Amino acid sequence: MLRMTKLIDGGLHAEVLTEDTRRRAESFFRRHARKPRLDVILVGDNPASASYVRTKTKMAAEASIDGRLHRMQDEVSPGDLLRVLRSLNEDPNVDGILVQLPLPSDLDPQMVIEVIDPAKDVDAFHPINVGRLFTVNKVDPTVLLVPCTPLGCLLLLRSVIPPAGLTGKSAVVVGRSNIVGSPMARLLTNANCTVTIAHSKTLDLPGLCRTADIVVAAVGRPEFIRGGWIKEGAIILDVGINRVPTPDGKGKIVGDVATAEAIGRAAFLTPVPGGVGRMTVACLLHNTVTAAEMRMKGKSP
Ligand SMILES: NC(=O)c1ccc[n+]([C@@H]2O[C@H](COP(=O)([O-])OP(=O)(O)OC[C@H]3O[C@@H](n4cnc5c(N)ncnc54)[C@H](OP(=O)(O)O)[C@@H]3O)[C@@H](O)[C@H]2O)c1
Repeated sequence: MLRMTKLIDGGLHAEVLTEDTRRRAESFFRRHARKPRLDVILVGDNPASASYVRTKTKMAAEASIDGRLHRMQDEVSPGDLLRVLRSLNEDPNVDGILVQLPLPSDLDPQMVIEVIDPAKDVDAFHPINVGRLFTVNKVDPTVLLVPCTPLGCLLLLRSVIPPAGLTGKSAVVVGRSNIVGSPMARLLTNANCTVTIAHSKTLDLPGLCRTADIVVAAVGRPEFIRGGWIKEGAIILDVGINRVPTPDGKGKIVGDVATAEAIGRAAFLTPVPGGVGRMTVACLLHNTVTAAEMRMKGKSP
């Protein structure tokens, strides 16, 4: 029998979180006579990256955050990029630093990430912040920098199931990247789910997914997770952003889950677009204010 599938409105939850961030940013302004500041660095002219950073700086303004964009040429030398990062690290008025990924192939992203001051690392990719996420007993995103996309997924999950309801649930995270899959698995483990991380070498992924109460799809393959892989009543968080061709030549964005097939099986599903992606930017702004507050209190997040 087909069940009702509820789509989780990422836009709505992102608005609520951004409103909360705006209130925190305004309170910060009253106490410190300046707005929390986020500096975003874009290297090169990748159109998708340019569009993401525009969204980030526009949304920053809506949250009363001073968002600044630094554009650098594709062929910028590692030395010049590191000099800019070090000067932002030293600037007391800069609270958050983000280098938009991917970088041109001759720049080592890990080396760049490790130059950013962990206290200003609002993407939370620095090994210090990764280490903290994996070692704290309680993940509290108001005092800890948590990678934005997994944090957004967790908040969306909590919007449909209370924290106690997560205890004992089986979760499959498809994808093991440092940006999404790996921190997502950690957040779910911390929320008392029993978590399996799947990847390209996993055997019988459809069978594994069928056992899961929660599936997080972070694969980067259009409509890869089929409806028949989904346990009835499962919660599906679709992280994928994949551009696919359409007959009119304009193309469209689809997720990693075959949404039309999942509807009628899943209890809850995040749509693409309009799901996880909207929360990612809202979480970035949340992290910026957290970083600002923590630094001003003299505590590193
Ligand atoms: N909504 C947002 O805000 C947001 C943010 C970030 C990323 N994304 C999207 O999320 C997706 C994943 O991003 P990412 O950065 O995590 O990608 P990634 O670094 O390319 O990682 C993809 C993961 O998927 C796994 N995988 C690939 N093919 C597979 C297969 N056939 N079966 C099972 N697992 C497979 C890979 O396994 P191996 O490790 O074995 O290679 C890898 O762990 C992309 O579509 C990206 O655009 C969205």
